[in-house]
Amino acid sequence: MLEVTDLRKTYGERPVLDGVQLTVGAGQIMGLLGANGAGKTTLISIIAGLRGADSGSVRVAGLDALRQPRRAARHIGLAPQELGLYPMLTVAQNLAFFARLAGLRGGGRRRRVAEIAAALDLADQLGRCAGELSGGQQRRLHTAMAVLHRTDVLFLDEPTVGADVRSRAGILDVVRAMAAEGTAIVYTTHNLMELEQLGADIAVLHAGRIAVEGHLDDVVNRYATASVGLRFDGAVPALPGWHADGSRLTPDLPVTDPAAAAARALAALDPNQAACLTGVDVTHPSLETAYLAITGQPRTSENHHALVA
Ligand SMILES: Nc1ncnc2c1ncn2[C@@H]1O[C@H](COP(=O)(O)OP(=O)(O)OP(=O)(O)O)[C@@H](O)[C@H]1O
Ligand SMILES: [Mg+2]
Repeated sequence: MLEVTDLRKTYGERPVLDGVQLTVGAGQIMGLLGANGAGKTTLISIIAGLRGADSGSVRVAGLDALRQPRRAARHIGLAPQELGLYPMLTVAQNLAFFARLAGLRGGGRRRRVAEIAAALDLADQLGRCAGELSGGQQRRLHTAMAVLHRTDVLFLDEPTVGADVRSRAGILDVVRAMAAEGTAIVYTTHNLMELEQLGADIAVLHAGRIAVEGHLDDVVNRYATASVGLRFDGAVPALPGWHADGSRLTPDLPVTDPAAAAARALAALDPNQAACLTGVDVTHPSLETAYLAITGQPRTSENHHALVA
């Protein structure tokens, strides 16, 4: 549904996208990760026809989106990172206006507006001016306007910023429902837990390229690290297979099950040593540790891995 090939973009002298490859199929949720300034919004804006690229190709629903941006735009839904609302119009008027733009008519339009307003917890706000809403409510309205229309490809650029716990869950439910109906979704967030809750595929944009792409479980299995440390007040005891790191005792070799390693070490301490123990730190493998491992090193051709073709 979306195929980006060797996309390049430089702002002045600074290359931001340096040969991006990305494929997203119908019904797939692709979590696009990357540090602040990595180029996620730039990439989405180019695909949606809002900014030009230096070179490369973008295909959306079989169309050449760089050559025919207007035709491609009919297949694209977008909630940009920057809020776009009519502050003087009510929530209902904002939704109705975008629904009309999306080509929804009559009863179908009213039903969809009501459905999305309920899903994003906006049903009680329909009569209020958009400009009077709180920051999180405005973000929800902004996201609602992008998902009114069932498009082939949907871009949500940090849709949950400022949303409270319940609204965040509502946004994730809408994303799942749209993917189940066949929409290809590109979803950016700095909250990695959301991607775990979505069971998404992951693409990490780092140093101008997609450094790693694959299903979340595969990315975690391959890159996530676990760690364990025992903290002591006073002398750090000697334990075979472990060494002192300041006031911490850490294993000589990487561990796969940090809790089991901690339990073994604790059992090996004598009572005097155990009396000086002040804490145990356990870090389980997670998308966060995988992400930090991927982005902690400069990209080279050796550490570019596509886990899913
Ligand atoms: N219009 C522009 N002109 C010049 N430089 C720009 C422009 N837009 C973005 N940049 C620069 O390009 C880089 C990528 O920005 P972009 O907004 O795409 O990053 P991002 O991954 O979306 O970051 P964030 O997580 O903060 O949203 C940044 O260094 C930014 O300063
Ligand atoms: Mg951005």
